[in-house]
Amino acid sequence: MSLVYKGQNLYIDSTPIKSIAKKNITPFYVYSYNKMRNNYQTFYNYFKKINPLICFSVKSNSNVSLISELGKLGSGADVVSEGELRKAIKANIKPNKIVFSGIGKTEQELTKAIKTGVLLINIESESEAKLINKISKKMRKITNIGIRINPGVDANTLSKISTGKTDSKFGLPKSNFLSFCKNIKKFKNLKIKAVSVHIGSQITSVGPYRKTLNTLYKIIKLSRINFEYVDLGGGFGISYQDKEKKIDIKNYSRLVDKFQKKLNCKIIFEPGRFVVGNVGALISKIIYIKKNGNKNFIILDAGMNDFMRPALYNAKHNILPVLKLKKKLIGNVEFVGPICESTDSFIKYKNYSILNENNLVAISDVGAYGSSLSSNYNTRPLASEILIKKGKVKIIRRRQKISEII
Ligand code: LLP
Repeated sequence: MSLVYKGQNLYIDSTPIKSIAKKNITPFYVYSYNKMRNNYQTFYNYFKKINPLICFSVKSNSNVSLISELGKLGSGADVVSEGELRKAIKANIKPNKIVFSGIGKTEQELTKAIKTGVLLINIESESEAKLINKISKKMRKITNIGIRINPGVDANTLSKISTGKTDSKFGLPKSNFLSFCKNIKKFKNLKIKAVSVHIGSQITSVGPYRKTLNTLYKIIKLSRINFEYVDLGGGFGISYQDKEKKIDIKNYSRLVDKFQKKLNCKIIFEPGRFVVGNVGALISKIIYIKKNGNKNFIILDAGMNDFMRPALYNAKHNILPVLKLKKKLIGNVEFVGPICESTDSFIKYKNYSILNENNLVAISDVGAYGSSLSSNYNTRPLASEILIKKGKVKIIRRRQKISEII
């Protein structure tokens, strides 16, 4: 993570969190540009040999400034709605670097994507292909599509973020894919350019990826189609806790190199979490501290509406005090939000350094699926987002006004 202590004070890169909090209402998201650039380049460098197109998965963090910064580093975008498509365009991502994914794209969304001329629309059913063909015909266009295959692979990740198993709603099962390929000629306004796959998120071992590549290779050969692109999706797991396993991308990149050589195709990736997961923190203030039974509840001004992952997936995100008081410890601590739901709880600790009301804390590694998953639940305004770049503090989304949601 980009958070470090200098003495007792918590910094993001070389900026003290305390100083950012003086000028901004908590809770707020803060991101490190340096860390994001580093992650992006690290990812790219693993695959340098094959010069892939990296389409940042906009759903992981849909802040237009961040997308635009990634665009300047060479990234394209993986979008799943008209809103995300428009954000990518606004962030100056060229249409020929945008892929449009999702199982339920509407006619309006598809029309917008076809008009924009995105690189690929990754279809997930034959009905969707029919609809794209119909719209394209009306618009006298030939639309480039990819076909998402459901490889029937278990990604060994949280069941709620696993997408590649046979009984999941995603992609075309192998047999349907092959029959679709046979019938493709009847869709006169479609051009089949790609095969795509995405088996899940927060995947920490290479095994499921290896199986997927093997399955893809076999089925591509069976289809007898020369696909220009293979879009291998995202899913690369990061470590949220000390010593937690993360994906060995180097190992995976060797497999992808071989795969690419055998098929001589261009490779697309759609990483989200790997690029932005560890670049951000959610800064929150302690409203109250109270003891119920033998538990010390630390009640924050950030709630599950601001950051959903713990409530939704039981995800563990460490919480760090912005000012670390050295001596005393308190036992049995639970950090909770202000919302009237038991699941509005962030994390528990057996021991924690002493805290006081009004102190600030940082919930760590919230750059991916943090602000993008936040909501107005309890009619609470969306938090602001701040980017630290070259020592400058820039507000990249202002805090929503309550009047805007009434
Ligand atoms: N491509 C497709 C088609 C996807 O559905 C996703 C994520 C990605 C790429 C990016 O996956 P990543 O590299 O970030 O793992 N809200 C959950 C994660 C949901 C992921 C949905 N799809 C979480 O907070 O863990």
